[in-house]
Amino acid sequence: MTDPAARADFIRAHLPVTPVPGIPSLRLHKAGPASGVGRLGDAAPYWAYWWAGGLVLARYLLAHPEQVAGRRVFDLGAGSGLVGIAAARAGATRVVASEIDPHAQVAIALNAALNDVHVAAIEGDCTGGDVPPVDLVLVGDVFYAPDVAARVTAFLDRCVAAGVTVLVGDPGRAPLPVARLTLLAQDAVAETGTARPAAVYAYHAP
Ligand SMILES: C[S@@+](CC[C@H](N)C(=O)[O-])C[C@H]1O[C@@H](n2cnc3c(N)ncnc32)[C@H](O)[C@@H]1O
Repeated sequence: MTDPAARADFIRAHLPVTPVPGIPSLRLHKAGPASGVGRLGDAAPYWAYWWAGGLVLARYLLAHPEQVAGRRVFDLGAGSGLVGIAAARAGATRVVASEIDPHAQVAIALNAALNDVHVAAIEGDCTGGDVPPVDLVLVGDVFYAPDVAARVTAFLDRCVAAGVTVLVGDPGRAPLPVARLTLLAQDAVAETGTARPAAVYAYHAP
């Protein structure tokens, strides 16, 4: 499936609108047992599921709107768009999402509309490009594989060197660059049934 309109139709028809665990004021299209997301192609549809790092970061932003209000935000590895949507709800002036998965890009637009927020642009892989013109980069559960983590870490190092604030939400996955992180908050979030610990970190230079 390559047509964006067909992708949107599939998401609307097969991924039910679901309250975000622990954030009932937000709702997203998410996969259920009968969604059949395997029909969308070979890439793992990360955007169709909950991720502890995104959940903890979204909750943190809504509880601490001073971290994001009035700021220009870049949601790196946005998935379903949860973190950027929470940032917009918390008062960000402009939200740009970045996702390599074209189905996720469609889902982000649908989910933003569903929650009455505006995502100004939905971009692809920006990690090899210039530091985006933003105040804050948000990273929800993107350190899930060593190759992805290496690419993202190099990009975030350039962001902080340019003066951009970076916040990371993560449940402590193995490739997390812990030497660059300072703990800001801990929480327990439920990706599926049982809640697991996850944390929000400020990212700094090595
Ligand atoms: C585990 S998911 C987390 C999604 C979302 N942040 C959340 O917490 O719900 C990680 C996402 O990062 C995306 N991703 C990986 N490398 C990326 C890159 N270089 N640029 C943009 N997105 C990327 C993947 O496609 C995937 O959807």
